[in-house]
Amino acid sequence: MTNASMKPSLAFDVYGTLIDTHGVVTALRSMVGAQAQAFSQTWRDKQLEYSFRRGLQQDYQHFGICTRDALDYTCLFYQLELSAAQKNELLAVYRVLPAFDDVAAALAQLQQRDIPMYAFSNGSADAVEGLLQHAGIRTYFAGVVSVDALQTFKPNPAVYQHFLAQSGAPATQAWLISSNPFDVIGAVNIGMQAAWVQRSSTAIFDPWGVEPTVTVSGLAELVGLFEN
Ligand code: 2OP
Repeated sequence: MTNASMKPSLAFDVYGTLIDTHGVVTALRSMVGAQAQAFSQTWRDKQLEYSFRRGLQQDYQHFGICTRDALDYTCLFYQLELSAAQKNELLAVYRVLPAFDDVAAALAQLQQRDIPMYAFSNGSADAVEGLLQHAGIRTYFAGVVSVDALQTFKPNPAVYQHFLAQSGAPATQAWLISSNPFDVIGAVNIGMQAAWVQRSSTAIFDPWGVEPTVTVSGLAELVGLFEN
């Protein structure tokens, strides 16, 4: 699948791929009750929309601001009045969200094969470092490649080019690993390889006529693609 003379470089998306954004549901339950799951989904969708819009509008604010503003929107949408303290508590939970269960074992196996791995996120470098440290998986990564340096967001092609420049990998050997279809399409768009991690059987890949290089159901399956 890859050029035998050169190891692939793996760019792992963070939110939704390594880190479970819906890890906030437990905290939400005590505040919004039965609407917690739906609230979490609206919050996530709006967070992404705000990042896309800020990118298009060339009005960069880091991803944490998109997250904060999306939380305010979601409270308005569900007509829920959370106090400033409750919102701060939710944002604090967001900074220590858990990794998915399959992540640590898969990263350990890939590291044993000396495959260079990077965290590659729309999140700020500080936020991503904190998440990975808290989840106990920072040591698996050669580095964190964040959009901060460019002041825009994936799927702007410049962000994927930035990954190639930072990792030194040619596009044909650079793999994006992401559960986010917009991200997979963004990587394929500039000639990278891309694995779509379909973390739920009901997840839909955007019907744009662009396909991921491979689709896996989780990171354990991903490991098999990069045998020596
Ligand atoms: C990321 O971590 C937003 O999930 C996206 O880049």
